[in-house]
Amino acid sequence: MSIVVTAASGQLGRLTVEALLNRGVPASGIVATSRDITRIKDFADRGVVVRRADFAEPDSLPAAFEGADRLLLISTTTVNERVANHRRAIDAAVAAGASLVAYTSMLRADTSTASLAPTHSATEEYLRERLPSVMLRNGWYLENYTSQLPQVLQGGALAGAAGQGRISAATRADYADAAAVVLTTDGHDGKVYELGGDEAFTLAELATAISAATGRRIDCTHLTADAFAQLLTGAGVPAELAHVLADADRAMSQDEMFTDSGDLRRLIGRPTATPAEAIAAALR
Ligand SMILES: NC(=O)c1ccc[n+]([C@@H]2O[C@H](COP(=O)([O-])OP(=O)(O)OC[C@H]3O[C@@H](n4cnc5c(N)ncnc54)[C@H](OP(=O)(O)O)[C@@H]3O)[C@@H](O)[C@H]2O)c1
Repeated sequence: MSIVVTAASGQLGRLTVEALLNRGVPASGIVATSRDITRIKDFADRGVVVRRADFAEPDSLPAAFEGADRLLLISTTTVNERVANHRRAIDAAVAAGASLVAYTSMLRADTSTASLAPTHSATEEYLRERLPSVMLRNGWYLENYTSQLPQVLQGGALAGAAGQGRISAATRADYADAAAVVLTTDGHDGKVYELGGDEAFTLAELATAISAATGRRIDCTHLTADAFAQLLTGAGVPAELAHVLADADRAMSQDEMFTDSGDLRRLIGRPTATPAEAIAAALR
């Protein structure tokens, strides 16, 4: 019996496999999947079982999930195909006899007005009806901001449409560790965890934190969602993704990416990484 991590080639999946290993799970007890196993050859070299799984190809899934006890279903990237893909993965987890599926959903998936939310709530509902499950409702990644630091520093401004909304972002590593905890300990069946960083911030506060870390003046430019989508498109982000991201910012302006649940801190057993720590790590 093994722990299966889907999308193990992705940034969150990779960190989750590492977190499982750090928590003492033997490599041979972990199955890492990707659509392209050459992308996770490094895990195979360390003794992790590596298998091909493409949710768009249901025939690839029985062999990929064979022997699965607990499975982490990491939400996929193609938003318009997401629900159908996730349903196929859930069906395969049922057929494999998995005892628990953890799903990386989004914060407040059931009430959020963000355009991304319905794909997550539909997946949650399908999963809940079929298997013992746990919802890891991940908040925004701090890396969504820190990965933009070179452009922010170059332009001297952090732009967005989140207004005065408070954002409980956390690092992928903290979300990954929370996933590893629910995959390796008992008592999570039926739970819905609203996961976010301990230190919520507004965009303006984040701009101030970047200024403090770099000694550079960083202004905060508040845009409408439409103007932010245009800015992202102009910077080379595909139009569809730009609108999804701008709409997420609009939802953030209404505090929809804020949580004070403390679930993430409690699951990982330590304070979450702060925005200042994430900025410092990205500048190193
Ligand atoms: N909370 C946030 O701020 C935030 C931001 C962005 C995204 N997300 C969500 O969180 C997920 C994980 O984040 P991340 O940073 O790890 O994303 P990422 O690095 O882009 O990884 C995405 C993963 O999705 C897998 N995937 C895509 N289509 C698939 C399919 N048809 N079948 C199986 N796997 C498929 C990819 O695997 P292969 O290509 O190797 O098969 C890849 O490993 C994303 O996919 C997205 O749903 C959250």
